[in-house]
Amino acid sequence: MTHPAVQRSTDKFEHAAIVPREHLDFQLDSSDIPKYWMAGDAFKTRFFDAMSTLFPAGEKFFITSVREFRDRVTDPKLMQEVKDFTRQEAQHSMIHKQFNDRLKAQGVDIDNITKELEFMFFDEAPRLTTATQRLAITSALEHLTSMMCTCFFERKELLEASDPRVRAMYAWHAIEEVEHKAVAFDVLTKVAKAGYFRRNIAMFFVTFGFPFTVARIMNHMFQVDGFSLRQRLGLWARGLWWFYKPGGLFIPTLGYYFAYYKPGFHPWKVKEMPSYGTWLSTFERAGDPIAAGNALHAAGQ
Ligand SMILES: [Fe+2]
Ligand SMILES: [Fe+2]
Repeated sequence: MTHPAVQRSTDKFEHAAIVPREHLDFQLDSSDIPKYWMAGDAFKTRFFDAMSTLFPAGEKFFITSVREFRDRVTDPKLMQEVKDFTRQEAQHSMIHKQFNDRLKAQGVDIDNITKELEFMFFDEAPRLTTATQRLAITSALEHLTSMMCTCFFERKELLEASDPRVRAMYAWHAIEEVEHKAVAFDVLTKVAKAGYFRRNIAMFFVTFGFPFTVARIMNHMFQVDGFSLRQRLGLWARGLWWFYKPGGLFIPTLGYYFAYYKPGFHPWKVKEMPSYGTWLSTFERAGDPIAAGNALHAAGQ
């Protein structure tokens, strides 16, 4: 059944409204959240933790890249979407900073990770790329983000034995990433007028840059956690198998990933996030993002 928040856009693609949600409490300051909050597994936990360390600087980059074109947006609907996208991403950064404080207390060098990312996004990128190229990178990263959100949350077993508070943070982030998944793409194609090759060259670039960055941060975390070289090699071997094995995390995302390269692609043409309506109706009824995260997880397959 279509949730009332799902509306018909001017693009004739049905999609959810972009709803900025503020003052959410995931109880991230609780002392009983386990260090390896995902099934007690170092690799799986640190994979998601590494992404959390990227968000504050990364989402600031996304906001900056989209807002560079704000003055040229003439469609009032798209203008409103840019504002709502900005508010959602700003909230994500804020909550992930809270979560990253936990990682910092575990010894993860959040300050240095952020410093390196900020150098890459706000020093190197403006020197080496045009505003349109930065927006194309943002659009590509938003596609990878919505791909993970859509594909990971249909896998019930993935987050089965996870701490419900951290899982709820990722569930909320996933929901909002899906809601605003087309904003950077629409500004890129309708306002910056980037064509097929420009958007796909950016996707090719981030396809290698993103996992490389995540892997470097994970390796740092494993060192901080005190794993020897031999233990780290074992973690990587088992972790990469978990990720790339038949039926693992990676293969079911391929259809979603490659859709971006199709001429005529639009983010609302790829598959819907399963159970989006479940999260939304639970959140609206209970006003509790942790209950909504539990409901989203329970609705997985
Ligand atoms: Fe986000
Ligand atoms: Fe986003």
